[in-house]
Amino acid sequence: MTVLVLGATGKTGRAVVDALAARGARVRAASRTPAPSGIDGIEAVRFDWADPGTWREALRDVDALYVVGPYTEPDRPGLVRDLLAAAPGVGRVVLLSVLGVELLPDAIPMAVWEADVRASGKEWTILRPNWFQQNFGEGFAASLRDEGRLALPAADAVVGFVDTRDIAEVAAAALTEDGHAGQVLVVTGPEALTHAQAVRTLGEAAGRELRYTALTAEQHVEALRAAGLDEGSVAWQRGLFRLIRDGRNAVVTDTVERVTGHPARPLRAYANEHAETWRVPAPAEQ
Ligand SMILES: NC(=O)c1ccc[n+]([C@@H]2O[C@H](COP(=O)([O-])OP(=O)(O)OC[C@H]3O[C@@H](n4cnc5c(N)ncnc54)[C@H](OP(=O)(O)O)[C@@H]3O)[C@@H](O)[C@H]2O)c1
Repeated sequence: MTVLVLGATGKTGRAVVDALAARGARVRAASRTPAPSGIDGIEAVRFDWADPGTWREALRDVDALYVVGPYTEPDRPGLVRDLLAAAPGVGRVVLLSVLGVELLPDAIPMAVWEADVRASGKEWTILRPNWFQQNFGEGFAASLRDEGRLALPAADAVVGFVDTRDIAEVAAAALTEDGHAGQVLVVTGPEALTHAQAVRTLGEAAGRELRYTALTAEQHVEALRAAGLDEGSVAWQRGLFRLIRDGRNAVVTDTVERVTGHPARPLRAYANEHAETWRVPAPAEQ
């Protein structure tokens, strides 16, 4: 079978490509900046939500579809519906959503994408993951490495941080196996940790002290605006952290183990594998 993976250069999409290839599926890896993989069975293809002219070629002969929704196009809530309508040959679709989608502001129309996937007439599976462990190694990496700290408005609430490789393995199962259609799967790591505990775990792996600083919601909004985020993205981030502080991300499920047959990866394992990310680089020799 051939699976089109949207967002294939991103945190989940990259891992979905790998998980599908490991299952022997042919993969079309889509992004706005496709680069040849050099691997048999993985074909890079250009796909831009903002340019429907790219959709037809990406969808050619595709049996199943992994959707990272068009969060860069928040003013066009109908794009997922339009894509599914343009893909009559696609039998299965897996949508990446988010834990707590029903409680978040509509700044990003993820609830609309969920409704469109359900109404598509295809075999659908919706993934609602908790926060990604990989955020610590990508978006949050610079302040951890350069300042030795991470400042967020998460108070001392716990979060079931999940490894995106586990999300990807669940996605690959739902895309290639029977038995997952019509399900909403909440995907989490094996334990719930505070941000202070998570950051300490990264520091232990990197061999240095890393600290978490609790911001107020207002301080965080100011920092996001100072960094140039638009008001829609600010509202979305504000909503995400409100859920954390309200304890909504304390959720830990057995979805990964049930679907993949192995336990969810703990944050400590991710931290040990990526310890270099949070080390201070040695000064260059003169
Ligand atoms: N981070 C978390 O903790 C977390 C938790 C739960 C859910 N989520 C959800 O996960 C989603 C993000 O997924 P991710 O982390 O896997 O992706 P990501 O790392 O944010 O990467 C985005 C991917 O989408 C592609 N992309 C961006 N704009 C595009 C466009 N206009 N057309 C086509 N492709 C485009 C990017 O490639 P190019 O730039 O090359 O096109 C890249 O491959 C969001 O919807 C978020 O709400 C995140």
